[in-house]
Amino acid sequence: MNPELNYSETQRQEQERTGPLVPKSEQAPGPGRPFRTILALTGASGAIYGLRLLERLRRPGVEIHLLVSHAGLRTLELETGRRLSDLKALADYHYPIRDVGARLASGSYPMDAMVIAPCSIRTMSAIAAGISSNLLLRAADVTLKERRKLILMVRESPLHLGHLRTMVALTEMGAIIAPPIPAFYNRPQTVLELVDYSVERVLDLLGLPAAEARRWDP
Ligand SMILES: Cc1cc2nc3c(=O)[nH]c(=O)nc-3n(C[C@H](O)[C@H](O)[C@H](O)COP(=O)(O)O)c2cc1C
Repeated sequence: MNPELNYSETQRQEQERTGPLVPKSEQAPGPGRPFRTILALTGASGAIYGLRLLERLRRPGVEIHLLVSHAGLRTLELETGRRLSDLKALADYHYPIRDVGARLASGSYPMDAMVIAPCSIRTMSAIAAGISSNLLLRAADVTLKERRKLILMVRESPLHLGHLRTMVALTEMGAIIAPPIPAFYNRPQTVLELVDYSVERVLDLLGLPAAEARRWDP
């Protein structure tokens, strides 16, 4: 490499040689580097959790990478009347889940966390089995293999032994099973308050606590 060249010139040459890479300055978390999280919606009931999380994650310093399964789109429209375009308008990036070659499929892309909200039993089970048949499942597998935070808002009831064993297996792999279970000690008055309770617990898990979250402190 020619020592006469300045840094940006050598970087430009490197990018020309190697293709589209994330600049080194943006790889490690720190000043000038956003917290990057994947937010995925699947076909369990409770699309409102994904939608609300998207709204609450939108803040300076957070970059949201959105994935929505086909069943997730269906429940989103059924339960909230919203469409994919509404979600895309709130996210920084959106990827079709058939695009298994997108950057989220690689552990080399500097992502910090992934939340699946809501998470269906189907998606949970596929992740536990390492079945990476679409970008959403591959991104979850990458999150686990890179030892990054994977939070699953699994929604189903009642649970059979297979579901429970799968949750144990995922917990052993490092995932966090965080079902959206409401609390009543804060006397919620609206459905949104019930939803926000679970969403705020997930923001806590991400290390992005909401300033306005109501906390138990008798
Ligand atoms: C209205 C509706 C509600 C559903 N609720 C749930 C649910 O709460 N939990 C669940 O695991 N699956 C639920 N399902 C089934 C999933 O959508 C289905 O298993 C689907 O294949 C999941 O695919 P995905 O994991 O790729 O999103 C529901 C389906 C519909 C249409």
